[in-house]
Formats: sequence, C-alpha cells, structure tokens
Amino acid sequence: MKIIKESGFRFTEYTNKEDLSTEDIQLIDNAIEAQKSSYSPYSKFKVGAAVLLANEEMIQGSNQENGAYPSGLCAERVALFYAGVKFPSIPIKAIAITASFNDQVPSEPIPPCGACRQVMIESRNIGNEPMRVILVGKDRIYVVEDVTHLLPFNFSSVNNAVNQ
Ligand code: THU
Repeated sequence: MKIIKESGFRFTEYTNKEDLSTEDIQLIDNAIEAQKSSYSPYSKFKVGAAVLLANEEMIQGSNQENGAYPSGLCAERVALFYAGVKFPSIPIKAIAITASFNDQVPSEPIPPCGACRQVMIESRNIGNEPMRVILVGKDRIYVVEDVTHLLPFNFSSVNNAVNQ
C-alpha cells in the first residue's frame, strides 16, 4: 500500500508591529537591540535574537563571527545557550529574530538556519511546551506558534537510542 501524506503549518503575518502583544513587542525590541552587539566583520550581516523565558526574563543574543569562519555562532544559538547558562531548565516560551545587512533591514523576515532550528527544538523540548518563533522583517512579521513546525521530522532525544 502506498499513502501520500501531507504536512504543513499555519503562521500569522503581521504588517504592523503594534498589532502584537506588549510582551511580543518588547521581545522584538530586545532582538533589534541585540543586533548592536553583533560581531560580524566578515558577513556584515547583523543578527539579533531575544528569548522569553517562563519566568518572564528576556535574554539577548547576537551572531559572533570568527576569522576561522565555522568557529562563529549564530545569534539564536548564542541567546539559547546563554539562557541555558543563566536559567537552566526554565522553559523558553518564545524567540524573536531579526537581521540587517549593512544596516538595512530586509523587507521579509530572515528565517533561522537549520542548525539553529535543531537547537531551538532541543530548548523547546526541555520545557516540553510550545516555543513561539517571531521572525521580524522591515515590512512583515511572521509568528509561528511552535518551533516544531519549522523542522518537521526533526531528530530529538526521543529518537536517540541512548534514551530508550
Ligand atoms: N546567522 C545567524 O546569526 N542566524 C541564522 O539563523 C543564520 C545566519 C549569522 C551567521 C553569520 O554570522 C551571518 O549570519 C551570515 O551568515
């Protein structure tokens, strides 16, 4: 038997930041501010991320590059790992991500790279609650209700033989 299955997800597009909740706006503003600490002399692409924890704390991260290119790290992972250091095991409710190239913010939101999606899923699974993803462009904001939608068929601890 052959069955063709389909997978898809809904997300919300906003054209006005003011239509989001006060908390989401604050998280977005934190992500925008985080870009200022970006160390990106090679790509000139400044990425800012901010995570909201269940204890209402917000943690910022920005991309940190290196002359040995692969040694650098994306903004999302800097923020998530820093949140793990400061508040271990506190669930993460949301992450906001924004970027600019030569100080110009792209009209459309910048989607997170695959490695960051994988790390976001691990952080989300620690709290075992949905983690919202807010992607911020100049003219549009996308809100995804759970990061799992951004990485279907993701590999997680459930698939890891060590945990079975
Ligand atoms: N970058 C991020 O910080 N997050 C992503 O999700 C994609 C890319 C950074 C890595 C590098 O410093 C620069 O953007 C250009 O790829």
